[in-house]
Amino acid sequence: MQLHPSIKEILITQEQIEKRTQSLAEQITKDYADSDGRLLILSILKGSVMFTGELMKYLNIPCEIDFMKVSSYKNGTESTLALNILLDLNRTDLPQLDILIVEDIVDTGNTLSNLANMLRARGAKSVRICTLLDKPSRRLVELTPDYCGFTIPDEFVVGFGLDYAEELRNLPYVGVLRREIYEK
Ligand code: PRP
Repeated sequence: MQLHPSIKEILITQEQIEKRTQSLAEQITKDYADSDGRLLILSILKGSVMFTGELMKYLNIPCEIDFMKVSSYKNGTESTLALNILLDLNRTDLPQLDILIVEDIVDTGNTLSNLANMLRARGAKSVRICTLLDKPSRRLVELTPDYCGFTIPDEFVVGFGLDYAEELRNLPYVGVLRREIYEK
């Protein structure tokens, strides 16, 4: 496959993503098989769209899908960031739901920590996090994803849902963006 001109190197190939996602889905299938709740796959827009689709193909238990769009913002002088909800869940059945938040990447941990806490406070039966990528070296708040595809170094990564200025989300692999692209 021809490498995209903005990409320095492929960090995770399409085959590696598929294989790892299948094994995560097997584990998730086992873990939720005996729950008396209903599994809700909560895909966080926009970056998680490709990973969510890949993961759901291999889940072998009943599940629903829903979407939220959130971002983090600095709230006055607080050292941690607050959650900005751009698209909310509009449902009243949270106490019956085992929510699995599906994300493309955990970086500082602010977004996912705030979101998981908010869903718990709203009364969800359970809340867990599944991320394709984790950059633990960037963490500012304590957060360990329940399911993680790949732990990666602190590089500017794009593809398989992740963007640079809203582009490159459609690459079928995760690649490292050339420095000259974001430093120009
Ligand atoms: C990314 C990612 C998480 C968040 C992680 O979303 O999808 O939501 O940032 O960062 P954090 O751990 O430092 O909080 P982004 O805001 O880039 O939106 P996008 O998915 O629409 O590209």
